[in-house]
Amino acid sequence: MTDTLKDLWPGQSEALLKALHILTHNGGLNADSRRKLKQVQHLAQLIKPAIDACLKEKDQPVLADLGAGKSYLGLILYDLYFAPAGRGRVIAVEARADLIATARKIAAESGFARMDIAHGRIAEAEAGPVDIVTALHACDTATDEAILFALKHEAKYVALVPCCQAELAKSLDGTKNTLDQLWRHPIQRREFGAQLTNVLRGLFLEAHGYKVRVTEFTGLEHSLKNEFIYAERHQRSNPRARAEFEKLAAQLGAAPRLLSFAPLSPLPAA
Ligand SMILES: C[S@@+](CC[C@H](N)C(=O)[O-])C[C@H]1O[C@@H](n2cnc3c(N)ncnc32)[C@H](O)[C@@H]1O
Repeated sequence: MTDTLKDLWPGQSEALLKALHILTHNGGLNADSRRKLKQVQHLAQLIKPAIDACLKEKDQPVLADLGAGKSYLGLILYDLYFAPAGRGRVIAVEARADLIATARKIAAESGFARMDIAHGRIAEAEAGPVDIVTALHACDTATDEAILFALKHEAKYVALVPCCQAELAKSLDGTKNTLDQLWRHPIQRREFGAQLTNVLRGLFLEAHGYKVRVTEFTGLEHSLKNEFIYAERHQRSNPRARAEFEKLAAQLGAAPRLLSFAPLSPLPAA
């Protein structure tokens, strides 16, 4: 077995990985493509229990991968899990037309008939019921759009690896309060803003009845954008988490623009 083959999982299609340029036409892997393969394999492993549970519960479970880029993740999940099962759909949503065209061609050539690759913004994407939402490194507020998509489509599982959270860093610039030393310098504002964004995302999901787990995604050698937010819905709402979200946002004078509670009914009076 060559070094490259050791990086592949049993049953994983070499032809697909070549079409995605993860493997070279000789079957080799360079440092960048090995990193991408490791990220996708790691996410595939982390969400396998959700896919298995959905395949058990439903005849045609649906996974939506949002901010899909070249659709590495959707195509590889289809190859690993939905193709062998012979059922289940994958929807990929991506804003860039050039990436969509390539992904559609690869899906057609791979015979992935239950994969739809949609061109457009996540916020405007419409689908039927969706069971699992994934967003791997969907830039800045695209991750918030993915959270709203999950709520709109009543997804039971949400798996997010956020990236480039810039919105709150901007809003912290100039915010003065008792904690403002925490974001005094631009690099601290960027880091603290990113941390705050993900904390609020977790609370927002909890407020909508998800049980949330936040862990390291993969080794730093495979990705620097490394926070994994995994959520499984088990109730309609959680007023305590909503109150925590609102308290934190008010204390720090910062709230993600898209994560508002408008669609939820008001909190009962204390
Ligand atoms: C860093 S790339 C990650 C791509 C892919 N998930 C991966 O891990 O290979 C982020 C992708 O999200 C897309 N994107 C950003 N904002 C979006 C939005 N609001 N709606 C749809 N796609 C978006 C970008 O065009 C880009 O292809």
